[in-house]
Amino acid sequence: MTSADIRKVSILGRDSIHCGFHLIPYIVRTVLDTLPSSTYVLFTDTNVGNLHLPLFESEFDAGIDALKSQIRPRFITYVIPPGETSKSRQCKAEIEDFLLLNKCTRDTVLLAVGGGVIGDLIGFVAATFMRGVRFVQIPTTLLAMVDSSVGGKTAIDTPHGKNLIGAFWQPECIFIDAAFLETLPAREFSNGMAEVIKTAAIWNEVEFSALESRFSEIFAAIQTPSKDYSGRTQGTRSSAQELLLSVIVGSISVKAHIVTIDERETGLRNLVNFGHTIGHAIEAVLTPTILHGECVSIGMILEAEVARSLGALSQVGVGRLTRCLKAYNLPVSLSDPKIANLPAARSLTVGRLLDIMKVDKKNSGPQKKIVILSRIGATYEQKATVVADTVISRTLSEAVKVIPGIPSKSPIHMATPGSKSISNRALLLAALGKGTCRLKNLLHSDDTQVMMNALMELKGAKFSWEDGGETLVVKGGSGTLSVPAKGKEIYLGNAGTAARFLTTVCTLVQSSQTDERTVITGNARMKQRPIGPLVDALRENGSSVNYLESQGCLPLSIAPAGLRGSTIKLAASVSSQYVSSILLCAPYAQEAVTLELVGGQVISQPYIDMTIAMMKTFGITVIRQTDPETQKPLDVYMIPKGHYVNPTDYHIESDASSATYPLAIAAITGTEVTIANIGSGSLQGDARFAKEVLEPMGCEVIQTETETTVRGPPIGTLKALGRVDMEPMTDAFLTASVLAAVAVSPPLAGRELSDAKHITTTRIVGIANQRVKECNRIQAMIDQLAKFGIETRELEDGLEVYGKDMRELKEGASVHCYDDHRVAMAFSVLGAVVKETVLEEKRCVEKTWPNWWDDLENKIGLRIEGVELAEVSVVASPSGGEAPEALVSVVIIGMRGSGKTFIGELAASVLEWSFVDADVAFEAKHKIGVREFVHQHDWPAFRAAETEILGELLATYPVGHIISLGGGIVETPAARELLKTYAMKGPVVHIVREIDEVVKYLGEETARPAYGELVIDVFRRREPWFKECCNYEFVNYTGVLTGSVTSPDSVRREVTRFFGHISGKQPNLVPNLANGQRSYFLSLTYPDITPALPYMEELTTGADAIELRVDLLRSPHADNSTPSLPPVAYVSEQIAALRHSTSLPIVFTARTVSQGGNFPNNAVNEAFELFHCAQRLGVEYIDLEISWPKKQVENLVTRKGFSQIIASWHDWSGSLQWTSKQAEDLYRSARDIGDIVKIVGKANRLEDNMALYEFVSRMSASPNAKPIIAINMGLEGQMSRILNKTLSPITHPLLPSKAAPGQLSFTQIQTALHLIGQLPAKNFYLFGTPIAQSMSPTLHNTAFQTLGLPHKYALLETTAVGDEIKAAISSPNFGGASVTIPFKLDIIPLLDSLSPHAKAIGAVNTIIPQKMLDGTVVLYGDNTDWLGIRNCILSRLPSSTRNPTAGLVIGAGGTSRAAIYALKSLGVRIVYLYNRTRASAEALVSAFPDVDIRIVEELGSWTIAPSVVVSTVPASATTTEASATGALHISEAIFAKQSEGVVVDMAYRPAVTPLLGLADATAKGWKTVRGLDVLLEQGYVQFNLWTGRQCPRRAVAEVVEKAYAKN
Ligand SMILES: NC(=O)c1ccc[n+]([C@@H]2O[C@H](COP(=O)([O-])OP(=O)(O)OC[C@H]3O[C@@H](n4cnc5c(N)ncnc54)[C@H](O)[C@@H]3O)[C@@H](O)[C@H]2O)c1
Repeated sequence: MTSADIRKVSILGRDSIHCGFHLIPYIVRTVLDTLPSSTYVLFTDTNVGNLHLPLFESEFDAGIDALKSQIRPRFITYVIPPGETSKSRQCKAEIEDFLLLNKCTRDTVLLAVGGGVIGDLIGFVAATFMRGVRFVQIPTTLLAMVDSSVGGKTAIDTPHGKNLIGAFWQPECIFIDAAFLETLPAREFSNGMAEVIKTAAIWNEVEFSALESRFSEIFAAIQTPSKDYSGRTQGTRSSAQELLLSVIVGSISVKAHIVTIDERETGLRNLVNFGHTIGHAIEAVLTPTILHGECVSIGMILEAEVARSLGALSQVGVGRLTRCLKAYNLPVSLSDPKIANLPAARSLTVGRLLDIMKVDKKNSGPQKKIVILSRIGATYEQKATVVADTVISRTLSEAVKVIPGIPSKSPIHMATPGSKSISNRALLLAALGKGTCRLKNLLHSDDTQVMMNALMELKGAKFSWEDGGETLVVKGGSGTLSVPAKGKEIYLGNAGTAARFLTTVCTLVQSSQTDERTVITGNARMKQRPIGPLVDALRENGSSVNYLESQGCLPLSIAPAGLRGSTIKLAASVSSQYVSSILLCAPYAQEAVTLELVGGQVISQPYIDMTIAMMKTFGITVIRQTDPETQKPLDVYMIPKGHYVNPTDYHIESDASSATYPLAIAAITGTEVTIANIGSGSLQGDARFAKEVLEPMGCEVIQTETETTVRGPPIGTLKALGRVDMEPMTDAFLTASVLAAVAVSPPLAGRELSDAKHITTTRIVGIANQRVKECNRIQAMIDQLAKFGIETRELEDGLEVYGKDMRELKEGASVHCYDDHRVAMAFSVLGAVVKETVLEEKRCVEKTWPNWWDDLENKIGLRIEGVELAEVSVVASPSGGEAPEALVSVVIIGMRGSGKTFIGELAASVLEWSFVDADVAFEAKHKIGVREFVHQHDWPAFRAAETEILGELLATYPVGHIISLGGGIVETPAARELLKTYAMKGPVVHIVREIDEVVKYLGEETARPAYGELVIDVFRRREPWFKECCNYEFVNYTGVLTGSVTSPDSVRREVTRFFGHISGKQPNLVPNLANGQRSYFLSLTYPDITPALPYMEELTTGADAIELRVDLLRSPHADNSTPSLPPVAYVSEQIAALRHSTSLPIVFTARTVSQGGNFPNNAVNEAFELFHCAQRLGVEYIDLEISWPKKQVENLVTRKGFSQIIASWHDWSGSLQWTSKQAEDLYRSARDIGDIVKIVGKANRLEDNMALYEFVSRMSASPNAKPIIAINMGLEGQMSRILNKTLSPITHPLLPSKAAPGQLSFTQIQTALHLIGQLPAKNFYLFGTPIAQSMSPTLHNTAFQTLGLPHKYALLETTAVGDEIKAAISSPNFGGASVTIPFKLDIIPLLDSLSPHAKAIGAVNTIIPQKMLDGTVVLYGDNTDWLGIRNCILSRLPSSTRNPTAGLVIGAGGTSRAAIYALKSLGVRIVYLYNRTRASAEALVSAFPDVDIRIVEELGSWTIAPSVVVSTVPASATTTEASATGALHISEAIFAKQSEGVVVDMAYRPAVTPLLGLADATAKGWKTVRGLDVLLEQGYVQFNLWTGRQCPRRAVAEVVEKAYAKN
């Protein structure tokens, strides 16, 4: 029984690592034999214990029975809760007490059976118990087997960080029983594989290759449960088990070897930290939700990219590592949706990650160290290497900047990566072929990766690597393909070529199982790209292909019935890839194929020719028919039956589209570039770019059969092209466009256009297909070129670009790349000559040239810098294959007159999106207005045309647009279908307005066709259709409910909130939740909330959100029978009313009777009708009791969009025990449904709160943990309300009743927190001089008091920034400071970092101490002055001036910088600057190069009159007297040409300054803002930055106004 075949590994000179399968009997025998003792204590956790403890117990019992010795040793067990929280001082102490209680002595042997948690904890107990006892590691997770159990590192965690206390303590033996892995959850297995892959990557290429190619066998070994202990002996071991064991043994051997040489981690052992420098930093932010191995996986890729950017590692290495990690289901990028969707992911900023890396154990002083790979299996040094922060930050940043200059490496000689088109074709041909083919120069990118993965899923071929990965060896499957495992979909990301090719490949699959089908799918953008014509052709040929979502797009489900063949007719006007797809697969059809291309002009013929040429190399000759009369080639191809014969080697040509970028750089900078491997003999159409585009632009071009050299003309002299047909090289049109943008010389003779707008016109045609590529590329070029000030015009099949002198282009453009590699690379060419050009999503180049930025720097010689886009985290980048999508456009529908245009334009302006009006698009297309069209044709014709436009708009503007449709769009079923389909992937918003108001409005409007029937009848007919088509509703009530007319400001606030939230641009979620700060919601218990609205600000003091207890609402018109069911209309009115007085997120709760509320338990349908209503209204949080029926819950969860679900359980009975399994089960069920878990019990004694607290810590540390609200009701439970961190429910003394017994107010909780030491009092200051009159202490102290916070704000007046200030800011009690004149610049050297705003303005007025993970505090400088100015203006802007075009700033001192910055943020395009001295005005102009600042000598001398004015000059220095000298003259001319506007005077005193007095007297339509108003406004922001709480504005303003009046 105990005989087992063991493989042993030696460590520190002893064979103490024993590896095999089903070893429990062997372990027990060996322990009893070799480690004699009086006591054996086995430790495990409940998970492992439940599965494996019984066998250990029975074996020990039997083993001890069998011992011959007289004294029977004891065998004791101890089981602890699973999870990282057990690695604590407390748990260690409990174990030690247990051992002491059991009279364990120094001869005791401890056995640690479990994962790394058990191993680390028990190892540390062993290290210190009785000054050290023997212990044995029996790891049960893969991570523990290959990593934590080997090497003797033991540790526990403290609140300051992980593994901070521990010891090196070697186990006596380590038993690796791989059979334990059969019960390990799959995610934990992958977690361990990250370490295995890491070890192979740094040490052993052979090992790595095995991992790379044999992942499915490795998974099979753990997924197939072994029967009868198979694997224990060699004879019973399957080959998969053997492989798994050798992988584990291989990995352990490396680690054991390294540990043996360097036990205490001084040099070599650092190597095992590959991926850990960055990985740990990520883990510090994302733990415990994301596992260690998952963070290290991403860390490895980022560190490999660091190595690549240093020139140490090639892209081959990065590509192989990426593919291998992905194969084991590990994340490889921070953009992985599993990570990007986490609230904590927002904290993953470059700054934060670098900060955390500062405290890495490997660092030497401030320098960071990273293990640099030099190739797979080897490192650059035998230790970690010092890497500069700039390099790390460039790798981590989502955006980059090209520093303009002359490429330092000119004349450049380089090759571009392998062609994407040829790589994909070669992969497919070799996979379908017979025999082995070695592919060289294959492109290592997302696209080819997707193709290879798909071919592996279909079991179509085997892939392995040679020459360190430079060569891919493909063992072809001769066309035999299988349906992937059940439930497994083939995911293609946004890889268009793979999607098109594989659609036909999947029809080749054959299976006898009739219920099997192959499913191919992609990301959201892929699901919009067309595939219809190909599917139509295949269907017509007899294949069964079904659309699973939208018609005409992926995902597809394809029957495995083979391809019939014979005649296939295909429409090829959209994509040549359809043609290639059928050509490539045709030889494997049942009958020889004749492919006939129908339906108009065939697109991109060169790609079809490329496919045919390559097929020939693989042994199949395609014949293209010719017209017997004219001998012209026809679009008919004949493909014989057969199979491909793989050539032994195939060299992939370099990518010709990619080559256009370096060549264009030569053209634009007047330098020389030679591209090897691409010449006149190329298969690729884009190889013609040099001859057909660059040469006529004035470049010298030398092209041989295999090489292309371009020398640019002197800089600034490129010629416009006139007309150029780029149909043979469509992908290169983007490169041509950026060159055309700076082409200022007239076209060559003969190329001039007779009808051109300018002499420098370049008219690019033949590229209509570029509208349906990764993005709508024509639109993309138009929009992005406009940012440089370049004019363009869209054509039906192309665009015109009007060249402009490059010195006149706008600097500082931030280019949005649409996740499109070609957009990013094309604009980096422009970046070579235009200063400060930012490419926003650098990772999108991964599709075809992953190391483009590195090559640009290392091979071309242009410097690249990382850029952190302000306040955007590194995951925000929609890049990489797995990237979250660019945000999809929002469609607006609703009755005519409901406010669609008004709301839509406002929404577009706050989201910084474009607004598209369907009526306008209609007119542009049909060249007549809607009214006229109906008049000329009829209504049905109009409806048909309107529906067609709808389809076009949705296809043309898939992302980043607000599309507003005509009121009657819902009249036809076809349009309704389109809308409903769209609503499955994007928001369709119904603008709802009171019908009476609509009628009133329409009475005054005549521009559109009249209804010809009563508006109310139209309304009644359409209302249900609007409901049916929309997935969101925006309620545009203008004051009907609140009695008051809503202000433009409240409408703007609500539009900002609603559209920001539902579009995902700025979800309105609680920031404190993401930051890990305490958060609170106020429970509203009114039957009708409208009477409370005027007090909303006071009621919500301190609250982060408002809970609307829907079950307590009672319509005044309802009968009073209980329990109540509030009508949906009443609820939505209540929400609309609430929205007009606050933008705080709403928690929507309908608590049932059985869980302590008023909502009937069995009214399921009514409840869900309400929940769906809440979802449609964009309510941010919906509280869902987990006892509601599963189906309905799931249905709601799939529609929640950017809102979140609080999955709750309220135990009203008082029987719930926090220590019970029931509590854990409730937690898990809630976690699986919700984004936030809420469990409410009842306390009978104070101790119940401690149990709750421990429960929360334990659950929060468990895998997949979610934020948890845990509370005990009742008086005894009040402690739990104080300690709860996540969304604690609070009440307010003004409320009619408490929502639950024991509820406390915000102030009460703060007081309690202070008393128990959880909220220490902090000191805040104002630095500056003179400041005695300052209102800031009154402002902030009133706010502290109102919120019950124990802090103090005081003046610290000094003559200079000196020791007093230094002492104040370095004190542990320092809470923050305001900084005023004259220290706003002097303070900067004392601070650790500055906000982007403070940097841009060049001054700091707010200091915020920020606590880092390691407990250190860093001082962060910000500037809130500009926000004060901006907010004051924004809230007073009349709705006629939503987007002020011009502004005036008076004065050019320090404050004017904040003023200009504020105006810029408001979208003001021209800032007039009025100042006495011209020199200081000029200094300002150069300080803001990206703002159009125009100095005015005389007020009123402007082209566009300003509608916002900010004066920054002391009141005493201004005068309205024209004759007065010594002061700046202010005159009525300021307001003369604008009837409405906002004027701000930053001077505090007098309250009415000359400027404001002038406005009051002469400009009735202008709103005035006093200096005090701005002070208050910026103070509110400051307060929020310091405390994370909203400032109680009204209470503060009242006190400050009084004090101000008194002074
Ligand atoms: N000492 C070192 O050198 C070292 C190295 C790496 C990691 N670590 C430490 O290891 C810990 C992580 O280890 P881990 O990933 O093994 O976590 P873990 O111990 O928490 O185990 C993961 C989960 O899997 C369960 N489990 C374990 N074996 C199982 C099995 N065979 N079947 C079913 N379930 C099973 C556990 O109960 C737990 O829920 C961390 O604390 C980390 O700091 C230490």
